[in-house]
Order: sequence, then C-alpha cells, then structure tokens
Amino acid sequence: MIMEINFNGKSVFLTGGSRGIGKAIKDRFIENGAEVAAPKREEMDLSDDGSVRKYIVKNSEYSPDIMVFNAGINLISPIEEIKAEDLIKTYQVNLFSSLRLISAFVKGQKLKGEGKIVFISSLYSMVSREGRLAYSSSKNAVTGAMKTLALELAPFNIMVNCIAPGYVMTEMTKKNLSGEEIESISRSIPTRRFQTEEEIADLTMFLCSDFNKSITGQLIAVDGGFLCR
Ligand SMILES: NC(=O)c1ccc[n+]([C@@H]2O[C@H](COP(=O)([O-])OP(=O)(O)OC[C@H]3O[C@@H](n4cnc5c(N)ncnc54)[C@H](OP(=O)(O)O)[C@@H]3O)[C@@H](O)[C@H]2O)c1
Repeated sequence: MIMEINFNGKSVFLTGGSRGIGKAIKDRFIENGAEVAAPKREEMDLSDDGSVRKYIVKNSEYSPDIMVFNAGINLISPIEEIKAEDLIKTYQVNLFSSLRLISAFVKGQKLKGEGKIVFISSLYSMVSREGRLAYSSSKNAVTGAMKTLALELAPFNIMVNCIAPGYVMTEMTKKNLSGEEIESISRSIPTRRFQTEEEIADLTMFLCSDFNKSITGQLIAVDGGFLCR
C-alpha cells in the first residue's frame, strides 16, 4: 500500500510560519493541499496577550481542522541575571498564547469529532543547558499542557502531541550558539549533522494526517539519536 498524505479541504492554523521550522511546516502543508492561516507578527504578537485576544475576537468563527504551535523564543541568561519580564515573555510566547488560541479555536474540532494539535517543543523539554532557564522550563510546561489536552480531547478524537526538534540550523540557533559550539554539537549528534527544518515538517505532516488515528499525548524527538547518549 502506498501511503499518501494529503490535506485537501483541511484548514490549518500555524504560529511562527515566517521562517525557520515554521516556514518548512507551512510550505509542506500548502504542497499537500491544506489551506493555511499563519498570522504574521504584525497581525498577532504572541508576546502580547492583548494582541492575541484581538486576533481571536476578529476570527471568532474560525475553527481549523489542525493547529500547530511552532513559534518560540529562547532568551539566554544565567539565574542571577534573568529578568522577570523575559521569563514572562518566554512563557507568553512559548505556552500561554498557544493555550489561549486552543481554548478559542478547538470548538470546531470537538463538534466535528476529529482534529489534530501539535506543539513544536524542544530537546530542552527533556534535557537542558546552562542559561536556558526560561526556555527549558517553558518547554517542560508545554509537555504538561500537551498531556492534559491529550486526555481531555481524546474522547473527541483529537490527537495532541509534541515534537522535540534536535539541533536545526535556523536563525534561533545561529543567534544562540557560537561557531565552535555548533561544530562540537554536530560531532556529538549520532547522525554527525544537524537535523533539517524539513525533517521536523515531515513528522508534523504524519501526526496531523489521517494516518494518525491513535498517537496522542506523545513527545517525539527528531534528534538524530542525540538523546540516546
Ligand atoms: N532551531 C532549533 O534548533 C530548535 C531546536 C529545538 C526546538 N526548536 C523550536 O522550534 C520552533 C521554531 O524555531 P526556529 O528555530 O524555527 O526559530 P526562529 O527561526 O527563531 O523562528 C521563530 C518563529 O517564531 C515567530 N515568533 C517569535 N516570537 C514571536 C512573537 N512574539 N509573535 C509572533 N511570532 C513570533 C517568529 O516570527 P518573526 O519572523 O516575526 O520573528 C518566527 O516565525 C521554536 O518553538 C523553537 O523553540 C528549535
């Protein structure tokens, strides 16, 4: 049997579709026939709860078949220097805005009795690195939210999962890692290379497709074997 994923007639809501992993996910959904709503930062600033509320009010009838929460920020700081506003902003972008959007948009999935929700989380929801207090703790919190939602929504046939990308060469990575760190991390990944945006998009497609009928509540790493060490 040839497995062919298509999203013809499906609507997708995606955050952070402007670049990096989110752009690859957006392109792959469009290639596969989906109608994608991926609001730009000017339309909805995920760090600003007021802006998220406005977007929801403006789109109150919207109920996408699939939701992918990809936007994220990683503000690095040691514990003594971390600013309260950076912690709050990180949680706002990486978790709270996604939950507000799910709460507003999930009704259509419940009525239809089917739906898919994916959070793009991180390896740092399972391991961590110095200075990643805000990022790592917020991504751990995403796992808890995902599991609760998986339980609450499974009776409605809505599958909720997290993908934990390994290291991917996006603007976020270039900003946060030196050339030397990139070299040394590359050598430590069993595949001896960073993972690609498209590899994260591929798993997103599968988890959001009709082939996924029972995978829910899972945190799946796409890390070239990094976590096996
Ligand atoms: N790259 C990696 O190695 C890696 C590893 C593990 C997990 N991840 C996760 O994968 C996801 C995507 O990462 P990436 O590497 O592709 O990051 P990226 O290149 O920095 O892109 C981040 C995306 O999030 C959007 N965004 C950030 N803050 C926003 C805000 N306040 N309002 C609206 N949009 C906002 C950005 O929009 P603008 O274009 O407007 O800034 C952009 O589209 C993140 O959740 C990240 O934590 C990445």
